[in-house]
Amino acid sequence: MKPPIEKIKFGIIGVGHMGSYHLNVVSALPTHELVGIFDARLPYAKEKAELFDTTAFETYEELVAKCDAVTIAVPTHLHFAIAKYALEKGVHVLVEKPITLNIKEAEELIQIAAQKKLILQVGHVERFNGAVMALANIVTEPLLIQTRRLHPHNNRILDVGVVLDLLIHDIDIVLNLVKAPLIKHAAMGSLVTGNHEDVAVIDLQFEGGCIATLTASRLSQYKERTLTVTQKNNFVILNYGAQEIEIHRQGNSVTVTAPDEIKYSQESVVERVYVHKDNPLKSEHEHFYKCILGKEKPLVTGETDLRTLKIALESIEQIKENSKR
Ligand SMILES: NC(=O)c1ccc[n+]([C@@H]2O[C@H](COP(=O)([O-])OP(=O)(O)OC[C@H]3O[C@@H](n4cnc5c(N)ncnc54)[C@H](O)[C@@H]3O)[C@@H](O)[C@H]2O)c1
Repeated sequence: MKPPIEKIKFGIIGVGHMGSYHLNVVSALPTHELVGIFDARLPYAKEKAELFDTTAFETYEELVAKCDAVTIAVPTHLHFAIAKYALEKGVHVLVEKPITLNIKEAEELIQIAAQKKLILQVGHVERFNGAVMALANIVTEPLLIQTRRLHPHNNRILDVGVVLDLLIHDIDIVLNLVKAPLIKHAAMGSLVTGNHEDVAVIDLQFEGGCIATLTASRLSQYKERTLTVTQKNNFVILNYGAQEIEIHRQGNSVTVTAPDEIKYSQESVVERVYVHKDNPLKSEHEHFYKCILGKEKPLVTGETDLRTLKIALESIEQIKENSKR
């Protein structure tokens, strides 16, 4: 049994776009000792390591041997092999989303982590968005949920489509927001730039009547990340980027005549919710650290990730089927 850890020996595997954000966060956390990084582009990794005063390892195996915990931010099709290796070596893992490309691999990782009493956390960083964390107290009886995640095209993510790249964030958040069981889901989408879907819409129907429509595009000239919720007594608008929430209610529409004879009616009332804004990725790492020390229960569990991944993969199949016709 390893002695309790005060400062966590941490490594990062894959320091591209997302891995660099993890590097920025981890290198500034007082609870973390950045042991090193690994990236298949070794010269690039050496430059990065110099910038952060740490070591670029020749292999991820050597790095894992020196760590208590690692972040894995390599392309998705490589998540399984590296996460399995690290877990089997007794190292806690924060793996970027999506956890893997299929359910079987995800189940195997979750099982190894459970057997070895290790923390396996998936990088659903939007869960740690201040506005999303405030949402749970506001959304009690959702009738209609609509999400829009529109991003411009980029050549970085080529091994998956827009469902596993972007829309999975909203699947994860909506499945955790609606407490009722999911009874049905249907997907549509189109493959424009290659073998994977670039535009997708997923409809979810929950017991009790709540429905959700999740839209994502990675061909958009306009960037947007929003979630809206219709409830009986209000309409909630969440802006992920700004970490802001507005609650709209119908006004009393009573026509009032002001002393100076101006007539007006109160059409709607808008409340702006106070949101504790912080860097969601920093909050994600602080949570991972506290879970490893047993001070917090994982917010994102293997089971919730399996459910999220299952919906995503079934939707991709439906889109592929439909696009053949
Ligand atoms: N949570 C989020 O919001 C979010 C955002 C973007 C990407 N991601 C996820 O992060 C992962 C990485 O995406 P990205 O956008 O950073 O891609 P990227 O291409 O910018 O970075 C991937 C890095 O992995 C390295 N790499 C490739 N093969 C390797 C190997 N075998 N061993 C070690 N390193 C290797 C590459 O050299 C590159 O530096 C993906 O799984 C993606 O889904 C999550």
